[in-house]
Amino acid sequence: MISFILNNDDISTDQPPGSTVLDFVRYHKDLKGTKIGCREGDCGACTILVGELIDDKVRYRSMTSCLMPLANAAGKHIVTIEGINPADGSLTPVQQAMVDESGTQCGFCTVGFVMSLTGFCLGTPTSLPSGANDQDPLSRRNEAISSIDGNICRCTGYKSIERAAARLSEPPASAGGTNTAIKQRVVPKYFETIAERLSRVLPVTLNVNAVNCRPLTQAVLTGGGTDLYVQRHDSMAESATMPLFYNENLRGITDAGEYIEIGASATVTDLLESPVMNGIFPDLYKHLKLVSSTPIRNMATLAGNFINASPIGDMTIWFLALDAEITLSSPPYEGGEAAASADGVVLSRNTKLQDLYQGYKQLAKQPDEIIRKIRFKKPTPNVRFNFEKVCKRTYLDIATVNTAMSMIVEHRASGTLAVQSAHISAGGVAPVPLYLKETSAFLNDKEVSEETIIAANEIMQSEISPISDVRGTEQYKRLLLRQLFTAHFYEIFGQNAV
Ligand SMILES: Cc1cc2nc3c(=O)[nH]c(=O)nc-3n(C[C@H](O)[C@H](O)[C@H](O)COP(=O)(O)OP(=O)(O)OC[C@H]3O[C@@H](n4cnc5c(N)ncnc54)[C@H](O)[C@@H]3O)c2cc1C
Ligand code: FES
Ligand code: FES
Repeated sequence: MISFILNNDDISTDQPPGSTVLDFVRYHKDLKGTKIGCREGDCGACTILVGELIDDKVRYRSMTSCLMPLANAAGKHIVTIEGINPADGSLTPVQQAMVDESGTQCGFCTVGFVMSLTGFCLGTPTSLPSGANDQDPLSRRNEAISSIDGNICRCTGYKSIERAAARLSEPPASAGGTNTAIKQRVVPKYFETIAERLSRVLPVTLNVNAVNCRPLTQAVLTGGGTDLYVQRHDSMAESATMPLFYNENLRGITDAGEYIEIGASATVTDLLESPVMNGIFPDLYKHLKLVSSTPIRNMATLAGNFINASPIGDMTIWFLALDAEITLSSPPYEGGEAAASADGVVLSRNTKLQDLYQGYKQLAKQPDEIIRKIRFKKPTPNVRFNFEKVCKRTYLDIATVNTAMSMIVEHRASGTLAVQSAHISAGGVAPVPLYLKETSAFLNDKEVSEETIIAANEIMQSEISPISDVRGTEQYKRLLLRQLFTAHFYEIFGQNAV
C-alpha cells in the first residue's frame, strides 16, 4: 500500500509503485486538469507540486508527474490544479495574473504554468537559492520567471506569461511560504492542515541500512525517475521498484571535516540550496542553473546522473573534476564502509567516480550495488573551480560539450601564478564522461600562461575521441572543448592573467 495526501484527500492505494503519478491522478482519480504532453519531462504540461514534511513544515517543489513513480508519492502531499482551485469558483492570484496579462490562449499548457508559479509563491525567501538576493526585486522577478523554465507554450508567446510571473514576484503574492500563500488565497485554507496530517502518513522507504533486503534485489533502483521513465516508460509500471529518492539514509549534504559528503539521492536543487555547497562554490547558482529545468532539477539525483552514464551528464562531469569518490553497497545493504558479511564478502566499498566508467554505458559495478554516498576533498582556499556547458539552447537542453576543472593555485615568490595540481573532465567527446587524466597530470606545477594552455590542449586533443552526430561534427566538438578549456582559465584568473 502506498499512502499519501492527494489535494485534500487521504489516499491509500495498491496501484503499482512503478506506475506514474500522472496516470494515477488522471485515470484512477479522474483529475484531468493535469495534462499529458510529451511524457518525457520536456513540456511541463503535467507539472504538479510535491509537499514534503521537513522539521514540522511542508516544503513544496514542482515536479513533472509523467516521470514521477507513484512510489515517490508515499508520505507526501501531491497537489494538482484541482487542489488549488478556490471552492467558490473564483481565481487564485496566479490564475488572475495569467488572465490579466493575456498569458493563455488554447489553455493546454496553462495548468502547468499555474502549478509552477504557485510553487514559486509557496517557496520561502530562504529557499531561494543563494545568488538570488531575496530582498532585490530584480532577483525575485528573475526567480519567478525561472520557476517556469520547465514549461513550454506553443501558442501564446512567452512575454505575456513572463509579465504574469513578474507580477507574482511582487508582494503580496511573492514567495513567502505556506501561511502567506494561504492568506493571499494562492492556495486554499486546507493547506494549513497538511503538516499535521503528513506526520501521520507513513512513507514507504526501504532502509538500506537494514539487513535482509535480498528479495528486492531484482527491483529497479529508482531515484527521481527522470532517466528511467524516458528510457523505459512502458515497462516501469510492471517492474518491481526499489524507491531510493526519499530514502533518509541517502540524503543530506554535510561538511565532514576533510571531506564534503553528499547522499546519493541528493538532487540538483538540494545542491543549489545547500549552505555547504554555496559556501564552497561561489558560482554554484550560475553553473547549476544550466542543468535542465526547475522541475527536473527538483527530481534529478546525483546517483541517477552517475549511473545513467551519459557521456554528457552534467553532474557527472562536475564531480569528476572534483576527483570525487562514491560509496557502493551490495545487498543486504548493511551500513558502514567496507562492511563484510560472515563469509568475508565486502558489502560496501569506495571507488573513484572516474573508475566507474569502462565503456559506453558499461560500469564497474554490480547491477544490485547501490550508490550510497559521494564525497570529495573539502577545497582549501586556494582551490578554484569552473564549469562550462554549451548546448543548442541555454536552458532545458543537454550539452553538446561540457567540461569542469578544479585546480590548486599557487602564488609564487616571483609574482607569477602556477597550477599546483588540477582535475579536468569533459563530456560529449568520448563514449564515457571523461576524466582527462593526462591533461590533468600535465598541468601539475605549471605556470599559468598561454604556452601552458596551448600545450595542455594538445595533450587533451589526444585524449578525446568525439564523433560527428546531430549535436555537431567531430571537428566542431574538438574546437569547442579547446575554447571551453581556455574559458576555464579566463574564468578562474581573469582576462589579463593569460
Ligand atoms: C527534460 C529533461 C532534461 C534533462 N536535462 C539534463 C541536463 O541538462 N543535464 C543532465 O546531466 N541531465 C539531464 N537530464 C537527465 C536526468 O535528469 C539526469 O541524468 C538525472 O540526474 C537522473 O537522476 P534520476 O534520479 O532521475 O535517475 P533515475 O531515472 O531514477 O535513474 C537513472 C539510473 O540510475 C539508477 N540509480 C538511481 N539511483 C541509484 C543509486 N542510488 N544507486 C545505484 N543506481 C541508482 C537507476 O536504476 C537508473 O539506472 C534531463 C532529463 C530530462 C527528462
Ligand atoms: S507530459 Fe510533458 S513534461 Fe510531462
Ligand atoms: S496556451 Fe496554447 S500551448 Fe500555451
